[in-house]
Amino acid sequence: MPRKIPAGNWKMNGLQSTLSELKTLEDKHGDADIAILICPPFTLISACEDTPFDIGGQDCHTAESGAHTGDISAEMLADAGASYVLVGHSERRTDHGETDALIAAKAQAAYNAGLIAVICIGETLQEREAGKTLDVIDTQLAGSVPDKADAQNTVIAYEPVWAIGTGKVPTTAQIADVHAHIRRRLQDRFTDGAEFTLLYGGSVKGSNAADIFAVPNVDGALVGGASLTAADFSPIIVALESA
Ligand code: PGA
Repeated sequence: MPRKIPAGNWKMNGLQSTLSELKTLEDKHGDADIAILICPPFTLISACEDTPFDIGGQDCHTAESGAHTGDISAEMLADAGASYVLVGHSERRTDHGETDALIAAKAQAAYNAGLIAVICIGETLQEREAGKTLDVIDTQLAGSVPDKADAQNTVIAYEPVWAIGTGKVPTTAQIADVHAHIRRRLQDRFTDGAEFTLLYGGSVKGSNAADIFAVPNVDGALVGGASLTAADFSPIIVALESA
């Protein structure tokens, strides 16, 4: 069975003072049946080590170490206490021109360091309106997911670019179509394709989480804005626990 994962992506948000939100979250969900993943900025990873949550980085370099000023390696993330890393988030693809090949190399670097890679894919509004959503998904899956991926070392996050941070959410039928397609492609390519955890991401909130988690092949969510406070993230965790 795929694992259920509520994942928070804090992006470039979070100071030492923000850690009090994790304390509140721990008080409410410290003994949850499902593992909660928090991806804080790099600066807070070590400080999260004492929490009961799984911790992830938001990006990594393809190399283990070397002359790459300002970058961070998967090994360093693991050393700081992370067990996951996001790769290929659309903000990385857009802001830093990341290609599918680079993202696959980052995912491979994550495996080499013993991290689970959360590989993010998703279409732009223009691509959706042109009827190209599933073609884009196919290209990104083929190019960003390494051959060594399996259900233990990889999570796939479907995040339509137009739904990220916009308050716009696809219909549950649209999410169902894409997630079923991703599942089929994973099953075509990997013997354990049925076991991969598939997250939906893009404007997930407490008010829409239950509907999204009722969609077949949605095993959790990658949550940006609504993961920054315990008050907003908690109802999403509750919705997933009871899905
Ligand atoms: P959002 O971001 O929940 O703020 O839309 C999701 C993401 O980018 O992972």
